[in-house]
Order: sequence, then structure tokens, then C-alpha cells
Amino acid sequence: MRVPAAAIHFPEEDRQEILRRIDECLKSGQLTLGSIGKELEAEFAAAHDVPHAVAVSSGTSALEIPLRVLEANRGEVLVQANSFFATAAAVLSSGARLRFVDCDPATMALDPAAVEAAIGPDTVGVVTVHIGGYVPPSIRDLQRICDERGLWLVEDAAHAHGSSYQGQFAGTFGAAGSFSFYPTKVLAGGEGGMITTADDRIAAEALIYRDQGKASFDNNDHTRLGYNWRMSEPHAAITLSQLRRLDEFVGHRRAIAARYDELLADSPLQPLTIPAESSCNYYKYIAFLPDGVDRRALKQRLREEFQVALSGEVYETPLHQQSVFLPYADGPLPGAEELCARHVCLPVSAVMTEAQADLVVESVHAALAG
Ligand SMILES: Cc1ncc(COP(=O)(O)O)c(C=O)c1O
Repeated sequence: MRVPAAAIHFPEEDRQEILRRIDECLKSGQLTLGSIGKELEAEFAAAHDVPHAVAVSSGTSALEIPLRVLEANRGEVLVQANSFFATAAAVLSSGARLRFVDCDPATMALDPAAVEAAIGPDTVGVVTVHIGGYVPPSIRDLQRICDERGLWLVEDAAHAHGSSYQGQFAGTFGAAGSFSFYPTKVLAGGEGGMITTADDRIAAEALIYRDQGKASFDNNDHTRLGYNWRMSEPHAAITLSQLRRLDEFVGHRRAIAARYDELLADSPLQPLTIPAESSCNYYKYIAFLPDGVDRRALKQRLREEFQVALSGEVYETPLHQQSVFLPYADGPLPGAEELCARHVCLPVSAVMTEAQADLVVESVHAALAG
């Protein structure tokens, strides 16, 4: 491939530092819930300007833990239909009832009007997702609706490390935020996740839940129905090294996105509009195809004829149409369906060159014209 779909980047000096830290934990025997995890939590909280960050085993557990603490199982949780499997799966695993709500194709996020219309007597909370790392202005509407209706808001910020709206970071708008360090994410930890919250109680409970519901690390009194949701020290070492590159990685992604914006100014491929007050980390660079284009065929042609791989969609099929969630679907959700069908994600990474961005756009234009 002349342009791969994604690239995971660990500079040589970072690899050396990670190995040194892992060697230290091998020598000390402190392999989980140790000082590296604590350092990661403190630095992640500082980088996102939030009082608490709790490191866990995955982005999925970073969602399920706050949902359990918030007692989502008392009722129904509204979830956007345009998301990854784990957003809805975590809601079901927490014991809550799941209700899919439509998205606004202009933002790819929950449509506030659809949320208001879906609130019923059993609704306890709302889960919104910052698709592609974009925190749209409508996050304020969601906050207001939740406040007025006595609901909690949880942000699935798996895509949104370092993204912000009006200077406020993703993961700080609701009761809790959840981040993922899956290898394809802006920060690759191998596996891992982070819960962010300003609520002292949620933070304290998260520590209990992540370690088998134990009241404390060295106490065998199990007070909650927790699980093994711990992050190991080697994973914390990898993630910490990536976190220290967050500004650099996001800065590079923004430069590539700015190049795409410039090249697509008069293109039939229309980028998702991101207003100036939203600072996107460009986990994905999202653009909409003209009507009638077969996305699968286009992607295949780009790979085979131009050696350009587009990134995975966010998402190809909305959740209410995934077979496992069919029992929870109650009718069509046209916003989510339309945006899932029509968008593509141009490749972006922390090491991609401007020449590669030029090649992507030239190739897409040639493939669309042909
Ligand atoms: C929107 C969204 N939510 C949740 C997750 C789950 O994260 P993880 O794979 O780390 O469990 C992911 C990523 O894979 C995601 O993209």
C-alpha cells in the first residue's frame, strides 16, 4: 500500500523507555495496579483537565463501570444508533434496558430532539459518542436536556483523546467519560481504557468495581459485583508513553486534516463540517460520498488500482440493524442509516505525510470520475 488505512507509531526512544519500564516491573514483581498505572491516571487527568482518571482493562469496561455505579439497571438508557458494538453491549451488560435513538447526520452524534422525544418514565440516562473524535456543539443541548429531566449523561469518548469543545475536553461534559487504548485509537496501549469523572463517588466506586468489587486492593471484602477490569503495569507503560505524545500526535493529525480540507474545497466528496469552536483530534477524517456511489466498490478500486486503503467506517451498519441488537430495535432511524451508508474515512495517522494526503485525494477523485 502506498497509503495504509492506519499506522501505529512508537518512536525508537519510546520503545526503549517502554522496555525499561516493563523491565522494572518484571524486577519488582509489581505487574498490575502499580505506580505506572497511577502515573498514567494522573497524567491523563491533567491532560484532560478533569479531577479523576481511573485506568481499566478496555474502553468497554470504561463504559460498563460508570453505568454500574450510576445504577443504569434501574431503567432504560438511550444510546445513539451510530456507534460501535461495545457502546450498546456495555449498556446491556450493566443490566439496563437499551433504547436506540437517532443521530443528526450533520454531527454524527445523538440528535437532541430525538433524545427529548425518546425520554420516557423509565429513562435513567443517555450515552453519547464523539464519533471520529468530534465533540459537536449539540453536547451542550444534551447536557441541558439531561439536567432538566434529571438524567445522567455518559460520554463514550473512545475516539476522542484530547478533543474539546469551547476549550472543554471530551470526557468532562457528563457524569463520566470513557476512553479506549485499543491499537487503532489515537493513543495505542495494546488494550486498555480510562474513565474520567469530576465526581469523587464515581471515581471511588470505579476503583472498587475494576478490582473484583473489593473494598480495597489489600482487603478481601467484596462489596460490589465487580469484575477483573484491571489494567496491567506493562499496558500502563505503553499507554503512558503514547499519552506523552498526545499533543504531537493530534497536532500532526490536524495538519493532515487541514490539508484534506484544502484539497476537498470543490470536491464531490464533502467533508464533515467541524466548527472552529470544536477542536477535533481527527481519529477519523470523515467525508460524504455523492449519491449513488457504491462504497465497497470504490474502496476496492482504491486498494487495487491506486494502493490507497481508506480507514474503517464509523460505522458501516447502525447498531439497531446489527443482528445481535435486532430485539432492541423499534423502527427505522433514518439519520443513523443515512450517515452510515454514505460516509468514508480518509486515512489519517501520526506519521502520514502531506504527499500521502495529496495522493489519497487524487486517487479518490480519479476513482470517482472513472
Ligand atoms: C465508540 C467505541 N466505544 C467503545 C469501544 C470499545 O473499546 P475497547 O475495544 O477498548 O473495549 C470502541 C473501540 O473499540 C469504540 O470505538
